[in-house]
Parts: sequence; structure tokens; C-alpha cells
Amino acid sequence: MAELSVDGLVVDYGPVRALDGVSLSVPSGAVVAVLGANGAGKTTLLRAVSGTLRFHRGRIAAGGVTVAGARVDGQPAAAVVRRGVTHVPEGRRVFARMTVEENLRAGGLGTPRAAAVRARRRVRELFPVLAERAHQRAGLLSGGEQQMLAIGRALMAEPSVLLLDEPTLGLAPRAAATIAATIRAINAAGTSILLVEQNVATALSLASHAYVLEVGAVALAGPAAELAAGDEVRRRYLGVADGAPAPQARAGLSRWSA
Ligand SMILES: Nc1ncnc2c1ncn2[C@@H]1O[C@H](COP(=O)(O)OP(=O)(O)OP(=O)(O)O)[C@@H](O)[C@H]1O
Ligand SMILES: [Mg+2]
Repeated sequence: MAELSVDGLVVDYGPVRALDGVSLSVPSGAVVAVLGANGAGKTTLLRAVSGTLRFHRGRIAAGGVTVAGARVDGQPAAAVVRRGVTHVPEGRRVFARMTVEENLRAGGLGTPRAAAVRARRRVRELFPVLAERAHQRAGLLSGGEQQMLAIGRALMAEPSVLLLDEPTLGLAPRAAATIAATIRAINAAGTSILLVEQNVATALSLASHAYVLEVGAVALAGPAAELAAGDEVRRRYLGVADGAPAPQARAGLSRWSA
């Protein structure tokens, strides 16, 4: 069954149409990737799902979002979190002046106490470095550590679906590889993931299915392995010439050229 399904979603920011009829689904337990050039609508898609679109003056003009069979489009962000969907935004957005511990606590504010305690333990296991820095201001962490904190904060609500917006953007290869391994571990523990990534090779190595957005619409979709091997994605997004042997999907292979 689809844990998350997006059906014919149309999103406007005032006169700007950012999504024009996007449909996709995240099966229960899957990692699904959304790829696309700058401005294609990837972030807008995640905002529309998480109910944070309104903070950016965006509006769902048509279509719907369903989580485990229940409609969530038009619901406030807190209600979507209660439905089990949390969003790790573009640029991490940790509370820079608050400590690591306070950031995590903020993520668990709406979580029942027993679940928050359980989630806190799990975050500590996933990110030992955050425990070491519990009382440090979040703004002083490295980029990779801030990304861990942003993910940890989202996990405090014990989501069934995690929305990740470019989690490896701007990170050194080693930090990016750590985040990729973490995404795998979170998924292996049962959380479904909708992953927006600018690093196509990383995304396709993590995901079972992928969608390519172009100017607000799905231009290409399919199993990640097929897209990674297919000429179109390889030529347009992986910088591989036609007819060249299929590359191994690996982190750091290529990036969007914008
Ligand atoms: N708050 C906003 N107000 C007006 N237009 C916006 C707003 N946010 C995004 N847009 C526009 O909507 C379109 C989609 O933007 P979006 O940020 O979703 O793209 P993206 O695929 O996430 O891009 P990037 O790779 O740069 O993060 C773009 O044309 C963008 O300029
Ligand atoms: Mg974006």
C-alpha cells in the first residue's frame, strides 16, 4: 500500500505556477527519490506534502495528498506531523542559537512522552556525535552535524514518512557519505522516505524508484536502477556520453550543473 500518495498536485505562489499536475507515490517502507534541476519544483512538492507551503505564500490549487489513506492536503503542518510525516527542510534550518538538546526537544514537542523518550534514544544511537555536543549551540556545528541534527529533530516525532530536501547539499564527500548511510539505516528501521537530492548518483543508489521533475511536471519516472542505466538520465544528469558503459552509482559521481 502507498504510505504517501500525491495526486495531480497543482501549486501556485501567487501568479507563479510551481507544480502543474504532479502525481507520485511512496510505497510503505520505500525510499523514493525526486530529481530535477534548480527551480523544477522539488522543494515545493515537499512543502505541499508537509503543510508548510502556507509559510511561503504558496497554495494548492488542485490535487491532493494522502497519507496512509487519509487526505492531508490543506491541513496545518502540525496536523501533518501528527499523521506521521516530518520534513527536513532545504538548508537544514536548525535553530542556531539553541543547543543541540533544545533543537531535539523542539522536534519532540508534539510527541507523546513515551514515544519522545524512545525517539531520543534512537537519535542518540544514530548520531553519537550529537550526544557529545548536546549542550553546544547548534549554529556552531559543522554542516554535516547540522544535517544530522535536522534529521534527528525530524525523527523526534517518530515519523512513518520522512521528507528530506537535499540532505547532502554543500557537504564534503565524507559527510555526504555519512548522511547517505544514515538515510539507509533510518529506512532499514522501517521509515519510508521521500528524498529530494541534487546528487543524482547518491539519490539513485538510495532509492528504489525515482521521479524527475522538469518545470513543475514529472518528465521521467521509474525504478532507480533503470533510470541509472538509461541513456536519458545518464546523458542529461550524469554527464555520460551515449553508448558509454554504465557507471557504478556512487556518491560524488556528479552534481547538477543547474
Ligand atoms: N516562496 C516563493 N514565492 C514565489 N515563487 C517561489 C517561491 N518558492 C519557490 N518559488 C518558485 O517556484 C518554482 C519551484 O521552486 P522550488 O524551490 O520548488 O524548486 P526546486 O526544484 O526545489 O529548486 P532548487 O533545486 O533550486 O532547490 C521556481 O520557479 C521558484 O522560483
Ligand atoms: Mg529546492
